[in-house]
Amino acid sequence: MAVDLSGYPRVVLGQWPTALEDCPRLTEALGGPRILVKRDDVNGLGVGGNKLRKLEFLIGEARESGVDTVITFGALQSNHARQTAAVCAKLGLQCELILTKSVPRSDVAYERSGNVLLDNLYGANVHICDTEEETVATYERLAAREKTATFPVGGSNETGILGYVAATAELHAQLASISKIVVPVGSAGTAAGVAAGICLLDWPVTLVAACVSHTADESRADITRLASAVANLDGLDLLITDRAVGPGYGIPTAEMWGALRLFARTEGITLDPVYSGKAAAAMVDMIRNGEIGADETIVFLHTGGVPGLFAYAPELTG
Ligand SMILES: Cc1ncc(COP(=O)(O)O)c(C=O)c1O
Repeated sequence: MAVDLSGYPRVVLGQWPTALEDCPRLTEALGGPRILVKRDDVNGLGVGGNKLRKLEFLIGEARESGVDTVITFGALQSNHARQTAAVCAKLGLQCELILTKSVPRSDVAYERSGNVLLDNLYGANVHICDTEEETVATYERLAAREKTATFPVGGSNETGILGYVAATAELHAQLASISKIVVPVGSAGTAAGVAAGICLLDWPVTLVAACVSHTADESRADITRLASAVANLDGLDLLITDRAVGPGYGIPTAEMWGALRLFARTEGITLDPVYSGKAAAAMVDMIRNGEIGADETIVFLHTGGVPGLFAYAPELTG
């Protein structure tokens, strides 16, 4: 079945299709399966990453109501915030970022480098909040202005996920004969869009959703809630794992650093410590223990996040 999203307002912001790269040295290092990487980390605007696809639809909808300011939320090193800032710069919109300190790190690299550095560079107004109360109060003050649009954390709502419905159709056209797609799950919009896309395409492929913050049960509920707004999920083969979360969101694990080095040293591909690195760690574990078989062909969806790596510089280089 074809996926037709032409009825939804959309502003094209990225370079599509993103590349689907064969990774023979990574495949060999893990003893098979054939691994391909879908390079959504390299898609043009604002240093790349998964939020650009969601923002195309979110901005499309917001523009229809004539807004001049976008407000959104995230952690201090939010990739979604950084990409929203870049999109607003390109479109001449004011960007208000409400960032909450939700990761127990307070070194200069974490607080000043990586995404937060780029947020400022792209001209966003950055509001850093220590508590939930401060976050709510800041939002209420900003949203009281006229002509504002509010995008949710991670751009994950019924509109944002359309970006990953489109991505799934794009991937299907590039290579349909795969058995699994591996994606990270934070606010769940990416996985939900892929889940909905798989169902709309009637594609016999397993979605492996690797949690980076929530439990598997919480993530299943989030994915199902978002995806079922767009598609009937009956028959979806969804495998959710929280094995790679470790002590919590944004907190590195040895397995994550191992996966980061493996991708870097076999393929020259840069993962990030918070999302793609933990999803890769889950994938590596599944290959090593046979949950992903050596004869399979799988796609790792690289959702970006590379600026976040620099926020962890002291730990990686020290
Ligand atoms: C680099 C990166 N990968 C993956 C994700 C997870 O995507 P989602 O929030 O749609 O689950 C995020 C979300 O912030 C991200 O920044």
